[in-house]
Amino acid sequence: MALDDIALEELGLAPRWVRKGVAIAAHAGAQDVAADVEPTARVAEAAAAQRTVEPAQEDAVREARAARSQQAARFEAGPASTVEPQPESLQEAKATPAISSDEPPPFTEDDFAWFDAVAEPALPADAPAPPRAPRDDIAALDWDALSERVAGCTRCRLCEKRTNTVFGVGDREADWMLIGEAPGENEDRQGEPFVGQAGKLLDNMLRALSLERSQNVYIANVIKCRPPGNRNPEPDEVARCEPYLQRQVALVKPKIIVALGRFAAQSLLKTDGSIASLRGRVHQYEGVPVIVTYHPAYLLRSLQDKSKAWADLCLARDTWRGAARVDR
Ligand code: URA
Repeated sequence: MALDDIALEELGLAPRWVRKGVAIAAHAGAQDVAADVEPTARVAEAAAAQRTVEPAQEDAVREARAARSQQAARFEAGPASTVEPQPESLQEAKATPAISSDEPPPFTEDDFAWFDAVAEPALPADAPAPPRAPRDDIAALDWDALSERVAGCTRCRLCEKRTNTVFGVGDREADWMLIGEAPGENEDRQGEPFVGQAGKLLDNMLRALSLERSQNVYIANVIKCRPPGNRNPEPDEVARCEPYLQRQVALVKPKIIVALGRFAAQSLLKTDGSIASLRGRVHQYEGVPVIVTYHPAYLLRSLQDKSKAWADLCLARDTWRGAARVDR
């Protein structure tokens, strides 16, 4: 698959993913090297192994190895311990300068929720999973009836404060389904998921995979109404909203689902596992393979994790390719 240079550039990955990768891949005759999990290091090392590197590429090998071991050390050290909840709407968040590789990341996705205004009490380890909501007749609705039902939904208290429901957007026959958490302020106003800064980054992530939100991608949220004040949705709100998402998945019949962020991943997978423990594996939701990655709003603030998000998308792409092959 052709990588989109501009999208990668905007993702902050171009210098590492395209310029070096393409030059070396062309040399080695390997088009898809950028799909590897630690591409910079592996591509550079592969080229070194073939003894085709020029002096500048040897530097790249050294740099890549150093970066890789630094990154590994940073993540083995674990998240920063003094993390304050981020008070302002992340949708409005501006990208912050890259953090020096000597500094630990200021927070991790596991410290982060889209609904970050209110700290959530930790669930006791033996807390029962919230019950799945009864499906009622939602499981039998067609697209029009389903979107009408969502628009008029009063199944939980979130209906009281919403401006618009946010149903979903994109290709209703897409192979790819991206699932976020819940609408923020702009989404509530516009009735569309992932508008604003996080949405722009999401569009760039898609473009890097030669995808766009209207073609072969459908985007929805676990929760269809904005929780007031961007608080975390309650388990009963998730349970009451889930039949809508289940029906959307059944209608779209995606070949791959990408769960965006901890909240979406935990809600879909019925787990309280950390994002770190959920990434890098193929899960299942309603019989569809699921890949977990960081929320784009988190990535806006945590640039050092963009390469990990790209690795997640590459895993999603490989999984999608596998699923598409089986279905052929
Ligand atoms: N964050 C989400 O998870 N979903 C949106 O639609 C917007 C922001």
